[in-house]
Amino acid sequence: MRLATLVFAPLAHAFVIPFEWDVRWTTNAVESVLGEKQTIWKMIKDDDKYTRIVRILEFEGSVKKELDKDALITFFAPNNEGLTPPKHRTEEVPSLSYVAQALDEEPWLLDDGGDDDDDKDKKRRRKILKRIAHAVLKYHILPDSHDAASLAQNSTMATTLHPHDGSADGLARRIHIGKELVPPGISINFYARVKSSAGASNGQVHELAHPLFPPASVFDEMFIASRWLSTSTSAIQRVGGAKYLEWGYDREKSKPGKPVFSGTPLTTFFAPSNQAWNCLPHRLHLFLFSQFGRHALRKLLMYHAVPHTLVHAELVHHAEHKKAEAELGSLNDPSFRHEFEVHSALGSPLKIVAEKKRVLPIEGAVVTSMTVNGVSVKVLDVVASNGAWHILDKVLCPPHKHKPHMADTDPWDDWEDWFLTWAEDARIQGW
Ligand SMILES: *[C@@H]1O[C@H](CO)[C@@H](O)[C@H](O)[C@H]1NC(C)=O
Repeated sequence: MRLATLVFAPLAHAFVIPFEWDVRWTTNAVESVLGEKQTIWKMIKDDDKYTRIVRILEFEGSVKKELDKDALITFFAPNNEGLTPPKHRTEEVPSLSYVAQALDEEPWLLDDGGDDDDDKDKKRRRKILKRIAHAVLKYHILPDSHDAASLAQNSTMATTLHPHDGSADGLARRIHIGKELVPPGISINFYARVKSSAGASNGQVHELAHPLFPPASVFDEMFIASRWLSTSTSAIQRVGGAKYLEWGYDREKSKPGKPVFSGTPLTTFFAPSNQAWNCLPHRLHLFLFSQFGRHALRKLLMYHAVPHTLVHAELVHHAEHKKAEAELGSLNDPSFRHEFEVHSALGSPLKIVAEKKRVLPIEGAVVTSMTVNGVSVKVLDVVASNGAWHILDKVLCPPHKHKPHMADTDPWDDWEDWFLTWAEDARIQGW
């Protein structure tokens, strides 16, 4: 379970660390060597702490050329420590650690080009590993130069890895950028801390203590985070909703050379945490998870899903009309407040307010936040292969007529007056 602990242990911090910080992002930046700056490739090639990633780049062959060109990029470089394989063999997740380990254990992989090496299986293995290395390395590159301060401006950013499986409407895979208070710093995808940053002639290198894993589908990731989300994931499975949040290789339908992918290629899910479900009135909770409540549970979960749409605080993209992509904010002044509506899987509107504010008086610091129907998002902008998800500490309450005296109380308090009617009302499609 190394992957699980690695990926989501730090999510726990998201629940306890208040979202404010006082950080000089550049304090741990390594001053570049005086004089002419070198390309990213030359910099890491000559640096003892990067020998393992350099070996992977040499093996893969094409990405190192991108790191050596003039075009400005950002490279996240896992250091040797991050690429040291664990004592026992891990599951075969396509990752840089996996490639690093393979290169350790099967050194013949590195002597390519020998015609004498006509073993078909070896050639095949080398080809597959190169392909994995290529995709995962592309996920470590951003198509522009961003120093630590610039990274800290955004909650997510696009990498140079584009999907080839029909997911995400072709949009590049993204990374999540987290800002931490104790100790101050930046971490990528919740688990990979930026240990140092340095400028090169063609961009920036950020040293990571862990390699990055390209994201899995919304449902698969929520499942990994079941420590916080087990109620949501088992509810989704109970109503047969996983396929609306999943996207992956379909073993049954695929033929050799013709991979088929199935599931839902683009979606956003607002995932109520276990705590959120626990806050529901006790009898409602019992009802929803009883055999009589299955239909209501399905409908309630659908109310938390936004199909065919990528909703990030800084980016909204609807699959149907490609041009509808909206980048919120501008480069000079990144702060914004943006109110918009998206449609849940029930077709009903959800009102989103995304906000990015400067935190004065701290130079350059911003806070990004989001609310859905007034409920604030607890963990924002988790990136997935087929969209995005966010964690809520409240279950979204569908609109209904409140008794007047109940205005300021928990909207679920009078559920017995309206919820059953709502749940029965309107036949629903999908899910
Ligand atoms: C960062 O966010 C701003 C909006 O505040 C957006 O305009 C910009 O394109 C984003 N930058 C990247 C690299 O995604």
